[in-house]
Amino acid sequence: MNTDIYAQAEPFVLQVYKELGLPRVEERLRDIKKEIDLTNTYTHSKEELEHGVRMAWRNSNRCIGRLYWKSLILNDKRNVRDSKEIFKALEEHLGRAINNGKILPMITVFPPQRSDGTIPFRIWNKSLIRYAAHVQADGQLIGDPDQLIFTQYCKKLGWKGENTPFDVLPIVIEQTGKQPEWRNIHPDLVLEVTLEHPDYGWFIDLHLKWHALPIIADMVLEIGGIRYPAAPFNGWYMVTEIGSRNLGDEKRFNQLPIIAEKMGLKNNRNHPFWKDKALLVLNEAVFYSFKKAGITLTDHHAASEQFMKFLQNEEKEGRSVNADWSWIVPPISGSSMKVFHHNYTNEVLSPNYFYNQSAWDDSKPDPTCPFHISNRS
Ligand code: ARG
Repeated sequence: MNTDIYAQAEPFVLQVYKELGLPRVEERLRDIKKEIDLTNTYTHSKEELEHGVRMAWRNSNRCIGRLYWKSLILNDKRNVRDSKEIFKALEEHLGRAINNGKILPMITVFPPQRSDGTIPFRIWNKSLIRYAAHVQADGQLIGDPDQLIFTQYCKKLGWKGENTPFDVLPIVIEQTGKQPEWRNIHPDLVLEVTLEHPDYGWFIDLHLKWHALPIIADMVLEIGGIRYPAAPFNGWYMVTEIGSRNLGDEKRFNQLPIIAEKMGLKNNRNHPFWKDKALLVLNEAVFYSFKKAGITLTDHHAASEQFMKFLQNEEKEGRSVNADWSWIVPPISGSSMKVFHHNYTNEVLSPNYFYNQSAWDDSKPDPTCPFHISNRS
């Protein structure tokens, strides 16, 4: 028997049955043992998978939004057979999760890695909805610099953008042994918010926008020794992800100098805080515009309070919470929030979502390290 996989299955199944109060765990473990004897792997029941994806969220050390872990909706697509069915399932996910703006946390789980190591499907996108990066004749970049390599692969596969800063990239799916296939997402499924500021009329002329749904598509879900290399999931945005990082970072849309200029701050040497002021205005614009459009979004102060509640809840359940301080503390106004004044242990538990090597990177992965946890943002 593949003792390694059973050794990971057993504690997971015991925990699920205990947490959900399910009967006959010994019987289930016996069945799993038999299945592993025959096939070298085992199949999660619906309940195990559903609770597994939720536990994986609960164990995500870098996520401040974990209070809501029990609300994650499972879209079980372990039975898809080809990329066409994957595209269809992803479209279904996008439509259901956006829910007219009242975003539902959701995960779609595609077939797991096989016992011989074969990975049936991979999604190449880091995030299902993202903006392309286009290199201009003068070497300048238009769009999201973070997406440059992926954009170049998309172009190699035959995709063409419109050369705007906000061209939504296509979805790229690779079925084992086949060429990756791409498809544009139907615009009706990409809800976007045009950004304006409640006090600064000029803000709207910056022509900034962002998509409503954060949906990570390139992480490996690992549950009880089974790996799901294609399992895209979404929650809703926290304002600073867009206002501080995506639009503010120098290596992303780099909007702070432009905003500070408009505010008349940038060239004023008495203003060491021009970046801080511009950041605040940018975050206000994101928050105001999402609320106005009726799209779920949390602010960092509310998220911090929710995380403190999560710590309390978990303590009540007798579970310890692990967290990565540098990710939990929001990128602006850190010390004004309770999460800042707290120490966390940062042990990585299973089930969890792990980083994977980029799909196009065919250098041999380090065999001793199935998943690397990097500091990627
Ligand atoms: N920061 C990423 C982005 O800007 C999304 C990461 C997940 N965030 C979330 N709120 N679930 O798209």
